[in-house]
Amino acid sequence: KRVALLISGGGSNMVSLAQSMTGDHPARPALVVSNRPNAGGLAKAEEMGIDTALVDHRPFGQDRAAFERDLNRTLEQVDPDIICMAGFMRVLTPVFIDRWAGRMLNIHPSLLPKYRGLHTHARALEAGDAEHGCSVHEVTAELDGGPLLGQARIKVEDKDTPETLAARVLEWEHKLYPAVLRRFAEGDRSLLLMP
Ligand code: GRF
Repeated sequence: KRVALLISGGGSNMVSLAQSMTGDHPARPALVVSNRPNAGGLAKAEEMGIDTALVDHRPFGQDRAAFERDLNRTLEQVDPDIICMAGFMRVLTPVFIDRWAGRMLNIHPSLLPKYRGLHTHARALEAGDAEHGCSVHEVTAELDGGPLLGQARIKVEDKDTPETLAARVLEWEHKLYPAVLRRFAEGDRSLLLMP
């Protein structure tokens, strides 16, 4: 199975996913696409020998449909079986999501359905949550709202700041996402809970 990975920044999740697709894993990374030209993940993908593409969203301004037409043309060149959004920070329209329905995953740094959207770690601390974590879900038109495929749960420590919490959650993202991708590639959509 061919996997396209969408990034906007450092791409640490993309790296973890790409590194996991070896040996008897049924999937391989086919393309890394960034919407930002200076995304650090582009260089990391090139170092790993993965083809990369840039679909810069800025020239399109608010014309999301035009950006997504460009993104689709780029994706259709590799015709991916699975698309993994990995730190991809653009909201996609229902048109794009319907085009890839059932084949698109995303990782979100919260225990969904809690804290959809941004600043999840600060919001969990603000709420005094004892636990926090990350979720992998199928992407549907509802932002951060699709069927859950995996969750990793961690304890919030008294001394945690948004930064220390984000760092610990990110370590678990790098464990959860590859495990969920492998199951998904094997046709298993049951919920995976970690640890
Ligand atoms: C991280 O905050 C992660 O929680 C979220 O996207 C951000 C960047 O991730 N999924 P990455 O290092 O670009 O994969």
